[in-house]
Amino acid sequence: MGIVYYEQDRIFKLDTPRTSYMMGVVDKEGFLGHIYYGKKVSGHELAYLLRTEEPPFVPSRNERDRLSFLDKFPMEYPTHGIGDFREAALRVRSAAGHKFCTLSYVSHKIFSGKKGIEGLPASFAGEGKCTTLEILCRDAHLGMEVVLSYSVFEDSDVIARHAEVANQGRERIFLEKIVSMSLDMDNRCFEALTLHGSWARECHRERRPLGRGFQGIGSRRGISGHQDHPFMALMTPATSQESGEVYGVQMVYSGNYEIRAEVSQFGTVRWQAGLEGEDFCWALEPGERFASPEALLTYSDRGLDGMTGSYHDFIRCHILRGEYKDRKRPILINNWEATYFDFDTEKLLSIAREAAKLGIEMLVMDDGWFGNRRDEFRSLGDWYVNEEKLKGGLSYLVEEVNKLGMKFGIWFEPEMISPDSDLYRAHPDWAIAVPGRTPSMARGQYVLDLSRREVVDCVWEQVEAVLRSANVEYVKWDMNRPLCDLGSLGLPPERQGELAHRYMLGVYELQERLVTRFPHILLENCASGGGRFDAGMLYYSPQIWCSDDTDAIERLAIQEGTALIYPLSTIGAHVSNCPNHAVGRNTPFETRGYVALAGTFGYELDVTRISEEDKEMIQEQAALYHKYNDLIREGDYYRIASAAENHLYDCWQVVGKDGKESLVTWIQVLCGPGRQSHMVRLKGLEESARYRVEGAGEEVELSGDILMYVGLRIPDRRGDFAGQVFHLVRVEEAE
Ligand code: DGJ
Repeated sequence: MGIVYYEQDRIFKLDTPRTSYMMGVVDKEGFLGHIYYGKKVSGHELAYLLRTEEPPFVPSRNERDRLSFLDKFPMEYPTHGIGDFREAALRVRSAAGHKFCTLSYVSHKIFSGKKGIEGLPASFAGEGKCTTLEILCRDAHLGMEVVLSYSVFEDSDVIARHAEVANQGRERIFLEKIVSMSLDMDNRCFEALTLHGSWARECHRERRPLGRGFQGIGSRRGISGHQDHPFMALMTPATSQESGEVYGVQMVYSGNYEIRAEVSQFGTVRWQAGLEGEDFCWALEPGERFASPEALLTYSDRGLDGMTGSYHDFIRCHILRGEYKDRKRPILINNWEATYFDFDTEKLLSIAREAAKLGIEMLVMDDGWFGNRRDEFRSLGDWYVNEEKLKGGLSYLVEEVNKLGMKFGIWFEPEMISPDSDLYRAHPDWAIAVPGRTPSMARGQYVLDLSRREVVDCVWEQVEAVLRSANVEYVKWDMNRPLCDLGSLGLPPERQGELAHRYMLGVYELQERLVTRFPHILLENCASGGGRFDAGMLYYSPQIWCSDDTDAIERLAIQEGTALIYPLSTIGAHVSNCPNHAVGRNTPFETRGYVALAGTFGYELDVTRISEEDKEMIQEQAALYHKYNDLIREGDYYRIASAAENHLYDCWQVVGKDGKESLVTWIQVLCGPGRQSHMVRLKGLEESARYRVEGAGEEVELSGDILMYVGLRIPDRRGDFAGQVFHLVRVEEAE
């Protein structure tokens, strides 16, 4: 494991527990070429794959065909304008207006540990737990230096990559495109797997073959978005959930991005993930540096299960921070679907009183408590308590909630400004807008220009004052519209192309202040549901509200897609009322509970107005949460069956890291043929161990191999959308 440089062959080899990644320096000019990424290999002779001993040869041997070399060579970090006509990783415009740069290897450093990336979220690991390679390359003509950074972790098959550019020249340069990672491979008939959706329909899986030319996904919305998720996998056609080769990449970034694949004339694939290149342009003065966000690469030869396992463990260990990272979260009740804007202290307390009796541990006051906020059209930006609604103020409400033995949480949307707000009346120029043009509203609101320090500070002072005024133990940080009409009065003309990224830096700074100054607060991010669910936000909040669609059946596909790369402990999931507010469907209360248990767990309904039967069910669900949450939060997650594929039922499983227990959840979507039971083949068990299986009123004892290769029998259950859970305990542990 670790990173080695073979000096004689000029080869870098990076090893993770199961994968190898290799690059080589070629020719006198020091071209850095990609050699190999995939299953772990023992040697480093793979240099012959760089094909420098075949036409067109390296330029020092065949200068006549230099262009052919540049357009074919698997550049590790290709640049624009030199004759590599494939997608560039770096496009730079000089002060004279030329778009040209070329990178030559200069030197490298290998060290234990990993540095942070200034202003940006990034993975981390303790000294000795990870090794980093920094390769310094230079464009002597521009006086520009580029450092390519790679970190490998001793416990993970994920490689963290990013790039930093320093202007060491005498003139300003413009970065027009900079990606976090570029990877050239021979095309093995790759298919791309991506996650798509829209509001209330996030993270639906889509798989399609790569064709010639460019294809990809991205966001120009200023947030990673509901539409295309900042993740892509490339897999061979035979790859399935359980077997075959998969390459995964995801961004540790929450703003505009793109992930693209290009199949070249030679049948090679160039795959890149980085900042979105169309709106982005960053001016770099002499002496200044720019860091790209981080991308997380992984490879699995164990199908999607292998990729999912690597990403889950990596995010849990190397992205999530704070006191709640590994801790059980309080069962919460949020008043949004219970009251919308129509609440006051008494209403909230009535919900809290009832909730406390049922085992709910925290009341979250959602949108509508501040300024003159009685609907969506006003008061964002006025973060002071509306004492007409909250008689006695926030402290009274929180004290009363605390007296019930419950924690208290609060909602903010700090990035926004309503045209009808005191803040807008005082600072109309703080909204992002092209000067002289009225920007487009969305949900009746504008976006605050967080690229400006005075705006960041003003928002922070208001949020901080509220948080200091009472015993607040949870914050839901919402963000309900994309960015457009990009213009900032804080930036000169040549820097307007920096706005979207500077905005994200402002958001990250605000959240960093929140988590460092209020370390005991549990932060949950949200953007109209899962509009900004990414590893960047997870660096600040250990959980994210994953969709405004709380219907248990719609949630199956949404949570399946989300759990493809994110651990269950990060997925905000609640039980809500029926008919469901988003889709109007009725599902059993029990099933809603099973689906929400595969996430952070909580409620989003008016407990003062539900049946006694549902109240009893809440108490049972709270008990299940306490019984199984450690397992769900920390265990290995496996997708067993997908209703999106079989249209009949959904099934997932979690296996404890110590292998002692497992939980299987099964949800029926349509009735199957006859009254036949279903056999589902489990995963992650020990073949020779015996397991006591409890569930569906039965108790049986079966061996691991029977459960994995023959299956667990799921009895047929009548009724719409029935759900069942099965608890498996390894027998020697039970005795
Ligand atoms: C969108 C969120 O996703 C909802 O949960 C709720 O907080 C509303 N915003 C409030 O405006």
